[in-house]
Amino acid sequence: MDVDLFASATQEDWYPTYQYLRDERPVYRIPGTDDYVITRYDDIMAVLRHQRTFPTGASKRRSEAAQAVYDRGGWQRMTPLGTNPPVHRHYRALVDHFFTGPGLDRWRPVIGRYIDEQLSTFENDGQVEWSSQYAVPVPVRVITHVLGLPEADIPKLKKWSAAWILPFVRPLQPEEDVWVAEQVVEMYDYLAGQIETKRAEPGDDVISYLTQAGFTGDGEPRPLSDQEIITIVDHLFVGGNETTTFAMSSALWVMLRDGGCYERLRADLSLVPDFVEEVLRLESPTQGLWRVVAEDTEIAGVPIPRGSTVHLRYASGNRDERMFECPAEVRLDRPNSRRHLAFTLGEHQCPGADLSRLEQVLTLDAALRRLPDLRLAAGRNDFRHVPMFTMRALRELHLEFTPAGRGPSSTPRMADHQRRADGQ
Ligand code: HEM
Repeated sequence: MDVDLFASATQEDWYPTYQYLRDERPVYRIPGTDDYVITRYDDIMAVLRHQRTFPTGASKRRSEAAQAVYDRGGWQRMTPLGTNPPVHRHYRALVDHFFTGPGLDRWRPVIGRYIDEQLSTFENDGQVEWSSQYAVPVPVRVITHVLGLPEADIPKLKKWSAAWILPFVRPLQPEEDVWVAEQVVEMYDYLAGQIETKRAEPGDDVISYLTQAGFTGDGEPRPLSDQEIITIVDHLFVGGNETTTFAMSSALWVMLRDGGCYERLRADLSLVPDFVEEVLRLESPTQGLWRVVAEDTEIAGVPIPRGSTVHLRYASGNRDERMFECPAEVRLDRPNSRRHLAFTLGEHQCPGADLSRLEQVLTLDAALRRLPDLRLAAGRNDFRHVPMFTMRALRELHLEFTPAGRGPSSTPRMADHQRRADGQ
């Protein structure tokens, strides 16, 4: 079988290619490159466990012209949250507590409010283009609030965010590389202004906290520099909205395409969290990311020289039958459902995983209760995805339902996670 990982047909439906690679070429070298694609669950885990050999790092050098844009702006493009041990844990410790346990519970009421408000904008219409009318606006409002940025700035933040992830989406032409750098520098300048305001008058949000926090990664606690805060915040902003948007669209698609899923969930809303895990596994928004190779090594018997890049295809590991029984099926009672790699595992496990899960669970819960007779709009969907190498996103998703006030008399009973969100 010919493999072209950059062909749009492959990217539209990755799964036959993943199956072939897992079975026949589990460590696959992209022709003409020193990039190796890893597709089996156990091999991906082996890479994640050996961080010294496979650290994180820039996959490719940016062009000199793009670098000049950062230099002129007086900024470095860096990702403190994506560095390597031991310093990595110190940066992560600054933010992780906002996204787990009681830190996460703080955001429940605001998430519930944004979900309600967004559903209200179309629930009388009987139809919606779910991606643009729901899945884009809700996560971006949530992360904007959590970080403490003004809601009025969302349009420009979204524009910068789209530029920020572009190098993860596909290989860029030199002029695109420069355009990305210009957008990112604009974002950095903007965030510098926000930081200055919050240093003077701290609020109750992540950015304010970072302006006051002590960083312990290099000995005695010291304040974070603007450069550090900016590149922590832009990473959280981008991570916090794009992927969750993609997951929310896939969730509705999988629920409504998969015979019986919708009815089962409506009958028992307590199954929603298990369903969310299955969608993350089956339609992983982050299909894969890379590690660099710090020393000569081998994976599954294939020698990999120092200086190469390994691409961990999380979405392939998530459909590896050696790990997940009947991997293409939605199974709401899967015993190892949370062992999927959609948020990766180990040192770099996504800090926003529980925030994103919460947004997804509350969204499905609310959609199941408030949009009766929900269905895929007949004849209006082609279910095509944006062609991307590292991400997976439906272009659009048209849904129909019975407009508010004309729904069936039986509404599903609230599940516990929803009652907590409503403060009941
Ligand atoms: C469905 C939603 C999400 C998915 C699928 C996702 C996926 C991932 C994955 C796979 C990684 C690991 C990257 C690697 O292997 O190097 C990661 C890391 C990260 N994610 Fe997420 N993410 C999601 C939501 C979020 C949210 C809501 C935030 C912010 C609140 C966020 C912020 C980050 C950050 C800052 C990292 C870097 C962590 C590190 O390297 O230590 N993500 N995410």
